[in-house]
Amino acid sequence: MCGIMGYVGKQSCAKMIYDGLKKLEYRGYDSAGIVVLGDTKLEVAKSVGKLFNLEAELGQLSPTAKMGMGHTRWATHGAPSVANAHPHTYDGFSIIHNGIIENYQALKISLLEAGTVFASETDSEVILHLLHREYAKDRSFDKAVSRVIPMLEGAFAFAAMTIEEPGVFYLVKNSSPLVIGCGVHENFFASDALALLPHTQEMIFLEDGQVVKITADEIELRDFSGKLLQAQRKILPKVDSAPEKNGFRHFMLKEIYEQPAVIRATLEKVFGASGAASLDESAIGLSALPFDTIKRIHIVGCGTAYLAGTLGRYFLEKWAQIPVSVDLASEFRYRSPYLDAGTLIIAMTQSGETLDTLASVKFAKQAGCPIYSICNVPFSAIPRGSEATFYMNAGPEVGVASTKAFVAMVLDLFLFTLAFGHKKGLISQAELEKQRSYLQRLPALVEQAIEQQSSIEQIALRYFEATNSLFIGRGNSCSIALEGALKLKEISYIHAEGYAGGELKHGPIALVDEHIPIIALAPKDSHYEKMLSNIEEVKARGGRVIGVGGKDDKRLAALCQDVLACPQIEQEDLQAILSVIPLQLFAYSIAVLRGTDIDQPRNLAKSVTVE
Ligand code: G6P
Repeated sequence: MCGIMGYVGKQSCAKMIYDGLKKLEYRGYDSAGIVVLGDTKLEVAKSVGKLFNLEAELGQLSPTAKMGMGHTRWATHGAPSVANAHPHTYDGFSIIHNGIIENYQALKISLLEAGTVFASETDSEVILHLLHREYAKDRSFDKAVSRVIPMLEGAFAFAAMTIEEPGVFYLVKNSSPLVIGCGVHENFFASDALALLPHTQEMIFLEDGQVVKITADEIELRDFSGKLLQAQRKILPKVDSAPEKNGFRHFMLKEIYEQPAVIRATLEKVFGASGAASLDESAIGLSALPFDTIKRIHIVGCGTAYLAGTLGRYFLEKWAQIPVSVDLASEFRYRSPYLDAGTLIIAMTQSGETLDTLASVKFAKQAGCPIYSICNVPFSAIPRGSEATFYMNAGPEVGVASTKAFVAMVLDLFLFTLAFGHKKGLISQAELEKQRSYLQRLPALVEQAIEQQSSIEQIALRYFEATNSLFIGRGNSCSIALEGALKLKEISYIHAEGYAGGELKHGPIALVDEHIPIIALAPKDSHYEKMLSNIEEVKARGGRVIGVGGKDDKRLAALCQDVLACPQIEQEDLQAILSVIPLQLFAYSIAVLRGTDIDQPRNLAKSVTVE
């Protein structure tokens, strides 16, 4: 979702800012723009669509400009268009903004009444005109920024510059992420440290309620009341160069193929290279939690992360005998959940930035809850607000449709469960040893699941023209059915619903006819017989069933038109990790046949930083 990159210093910056925006491209966007401080005026280039369209406009910007800022926009208020793309610029002032100004309509009405002319349909443009109006009162950029901040409501981060005070940026943060990269006679800022790492490893992560004045030689941090603050600098580790497709047609496929390595790395992290039968509590993060006082758990997350969380409930209630509820982060804090210091929050998030999940964490913190996060991106906002974090060993995930991060999240939740249950005295050393040996088999089994790619492609040829689909599963496979449906709809744009197999007869069975493919998860687990009965019910109504189950399962094959073959493991919690692989490959193969933009599907963002 919206990305920000800015620079002031000694280097020519237009191309550098563009390259920074490229690093943020994976977040999802629909238009982009850059403003630089030219010799006599602010110069702007904007475009709609992919960033290479903006590259073609860079010639409009002075090649010698040494101050500027850029933005990738994911439309909230106003369609993707050049007029609505940021930066917004007026009479020598310019702003870029992430988030939503919730009271923008009231602000806009008062500005319109005073004769302001708006050039866009965005909420963001009100910030620009308010700044311009306030500056006119005493010609102080600093005072104008401080007067505008209390007028704004919502979650936002914005950066502002003006030709009136060349070389000075103001950054304001309230909820949406902003990080400063510190240099020598130069400074940088961005919505994501990833854009800054090619230039510096020294970062200042802004907290909510902070405003910063930045020049090439100065970083002055204050709170919204004007009190000077000491900036906390962090040195980030260097990152390898940007992820490449390495010969794969899409990042999504590459990331599917990386899953065995992700599992191996995680197991090595928690069991050690020798594979000892003891879990490293500190790698899991359990040792940093107030274990003795935890009486219940709430898991929160969005999208795929939420669906991984639904498996966490099954794992934790079964193995660690603790009450668990799972909430969509966007609903959690609006339903008055019962929270206290004995309630552990588990925040599931690949990016560590999803605003709804971050807001849930802040809400639960206020109620005194300890926070544990399972996250892929070090130094991101949610781990920074957590008592403990279990970092996935997934490496950067670029494809918007999450694959390896889902598998990592499920595995991490299972490992957390084992550690928690063991510490509680519910999982014996012998049981831990048994579970470890199941886990050690996973990477090779996931490899076998991936080897089915070409046969799944053949099956996809028979279904890629469908307009609707239904995914069903029971127990752990119910979460996998929902995840399979989410994958398919995200990247193929086929309407897909995931349902508990037992719920079929309470509504969705009305959809069954010969046109709608029904993808039925039937691994050989404790729900197997009941699942076959559900498939019979569908078949009796003329439905076309694609089973997901054992390669040699003759009973399943006899009932289904096609079977997406999947390796089986006797441990049904871990079966969930195996069963999702054919569904990832099925969604991918269908999307390839439909010719969609698989890594950046329409309307979606990888990192959703608005509520
Ligand atoms: C977006 C992405 C999904 C992701 C969800 C949660 O909707 O498109 O793929 O599952 O956000 O993201 P998070 O980074 O918090 O896991």
